[in-house]
Amino acid sequence: MGREDISTLLGKTEEWILPELQSIFDEEESLDITVKAALYSLFAGGKRLRPLMMHLTSEMIGLGSDIEPDVRYFAATLEMLHTYSLIHDDLPALDNDELRRGKPTCHMVFGEGIAVLAGDLLLNKAMERMFSICEKNPGYIYTASVMSENSGIKGMLGGQSIDIASEEKEIPLDLLIRLQEKKTGAFIESAVVTPYYLSKKMTREESINDITAEYLRKLAAHIGLAFQIKDDILDVTSSSEVLGKSTGKDARDSKATFVTLLGLDGANMKLEEESRSISVILAKLKGQGFDTSDYETLKEFLVNRDR
Ligand code: IPE
Ligand code: IPE
Ligand code: MG
Ligand code: MG
Ligand code: MG
Repeated sequence: MGREDISTLLGKTEEWILPELQSIFDEEESLDITVKAALYSLFAGGKRLRPLMMHLTSEMIGLGSDIEPDVRYFAATLEMLHTYSLIHDDLPALDNDELRRGKPTCHMVFGEGIAVLAGDLLLNKAMERMFSICEKNPGYIYTASVMSENSGIKGMLGGQSIDIASEEKEIPLDLLIRLQEKKTGAFIESAVVTPYYLSKKMTREESINDITAEYLRKLAAHIGLAFQIKDDILDVTSSSEVLGKSTGKDARDSKATFVTLLGLDGANMKLEEESRSISVILAKLKGQGFDTSDYETLKEFLVNRDR
């Protein structure tokens, strides 16, 4: 058990991420219907796991209070990119889902056209925000580049592309892992590494040779896989009331998932394997003098969660 339990950690994250999200659009922008649709989805009540991961890394590395506001700014930016990915993921042309975060999906409320634009808006605004903070602080350029790359063809979008192309197909396990690493893992990598990169004003070159950065990327990769394996399992074992999104949809759409490929037992075994890998990396970070106890708490939640 970490220093704080998971509900405390999630509750505290909600307290600081909400005001940050509320400050994204000004009053005039908020009159626009596309902005209203984006805000509807941003405030529909996600778990805020990626902002929590940013907080956990900040705490673990003992981030200076001067950089904390910038971490919060990047956390809100990542939450915008994540929400954009979900608005588009739910569209009839993709997963055709009617329920998200316990509420009707964006396109069910605002129509497909506005939902497409709301996703585009969140993506565009996220990029505007990153350019804006880098103008003031050029030391953040590499961190912002990683966040934008992780959203694109090398990251989430690339994963979604393989996901759609793999429907109705039997794909090999290594392609499924690549799909999941991009689709889900890339944003999680941004969450886990951003506070460290910001604190060091890290460059691309430095990040390759930095051992802590390497451990954080590995930690993120295993958390990302564990997270998506559990998402695939919950699609089969949970109910829409608990999960806040519809279930049984991966089988309905003949999706390539850990459950469709390995079966429920196989997926659970793979989840345990990832959980052990997370602990191995956390032990290495501990060996470097970092307090990893809250990350252990997050790991337990990711493996055992029901939502
Ligand atoms: C759902 O992510 C999409 C996947 C990457 C599987 P979350 O489960 O973190 O979604 P919210 O933000 O809590 O709604
Ligand atoms: C989508 O994965 C993850 C994204 C990149 C948006 P899923 O399609 O499995 O996510 P859920 O189950 O709808 O949340
Ligand atoms: Mg999908
Ligand atoms: Mg989906
Ligand atoms: Mg899913």
